[in-house]
Amino acid sequence: MKIVLLGCGVVGQGVLDIMDEHPEYGKVAKVLVRNTAAHPDSRVTADPEEVFAEEDIELVVECMGGLEPAHTYVRRALEAGYDVVTSNKKMLAAYYAELQDLAEKNGCDLRYEACVGGGIPWIHELIRLQRIDEVTSFSGIINGTTNYILSQMTEQGSPFADALKQAQEAGYAEADPTDDIDGYDARYKVALSAAAGFGILPDTEKIPCWGIRHVSAGDIAYARENNHTLKLIGSGRLYDDHAELCVMPRMLKNTNLLASVSVNLNGLTAQSTTLGPSSYIGQGAGRYPTAHAVVQDIISIGEGERTAGHCYEMPLNNDLTEEVYYIRTSAAEAFRSAAEVIDGDVIITKKIRYSELLPLLESCGDPELFIASVEE
Ligand code: HSE
Repeated sequence: MKIVLLGCGVVGQGVLDIMDEHPEYGKVAKVLVRNTAAHPDSRVTADPEEVFAEEDIELVVECMGGLEPAHTYVRRALEAGYDVVTSNKKMLAAYYAELQDLAEKNGCDLRYEACVGGGIPWIHELIRLQRIDEVTSFSGIINGTTNYILSQMTEQGSPFADALKQAQEAGYAEADPTDDIDGYDARYKVALSAAAGFGILPDTEKIPCWGIRHVSAGDIAYARENNHTLKLIGSGRLYDDHAELCVMPRMLKNTNLLASVSVNLNGLTAQSTTLGPSSYIGQGAGRYPTAHAVVQDIISIGEGERTAGHCYEMPLNNDLTEEVYYIRTSAAEAFRSAAEVIDGDVIITKKIRYSELLPLLESCGDPELFIASVEE
């Protein structure tokens, strides 16, 4: 199988290394890079026209990251009738419908295992479950960088900034770590999990999204003193006429399986009709785990396995589930109506719906507020 590779950063280089080790799965003929001097390889070029002019392309692998030009190149590949494998969750979450429709129209496959859960075969499992079951919910640790930061803060007492720097050095973090620490990366992954698992197409921007930018040692200590562990959790639940999707820190009971999923690992659980819960834990970020997922998609396409990516639209409404929330804010009084306990700048809410809490969150005016749901 003749392959062209778009992007040769952390993930792209990993894909190139694995493919060169395994020529039985295909041959990377051209590699599009920004800076050819940084890549001493005769296949690299900075000219996309040279890549697309390559004869007999069978598969385009996109590992560029970012919205553009990645979106334009993936469009172009599908329009030309090439199968596509991408690791670019930000781009795919933004253009999922358009690109899957294009893939369907042109008889191509568009695969994205590496977009969610790093090396864990999560998307594959969500699709496979549906051979028998309906997937009714999923939840888990879906971002390696924030899990690494929270683990280091919890287990080593590391300051937030030091843990983030280590995650960047290890190649876990996005180029702009805002996407990780503010929860946006997890939100792209929740949207793509909903597409693969529920067959729905959520408006990614409407998924409630709270990150860990303002987490403090005090928040970690509060969780520990109450036999809980703080994790950033992405979740989804499908109802007949709407879906609940969310990204939010959560204080998990220490007995919860996910509480022990540490460092850069991801841990995800799906609920489906006859299997019940099934959990998947593994390397959630980093060069080779992510590249492994890309290459698994390449192999599946080479074997002729096809996926159906078409989704239907479904409104979002986070109004059924009631939770207890931990909130730390300089504007604690603004939450009095929802509070079970106010202790200085910490509020523990009554069990309430997110939609009841949202107006208070929006009006309290504290840009450094930290919120986490609490497992009971
Ligand atoms: N920045 C992402 C993470 C990379 O930390 O999970 C893997 O998607």
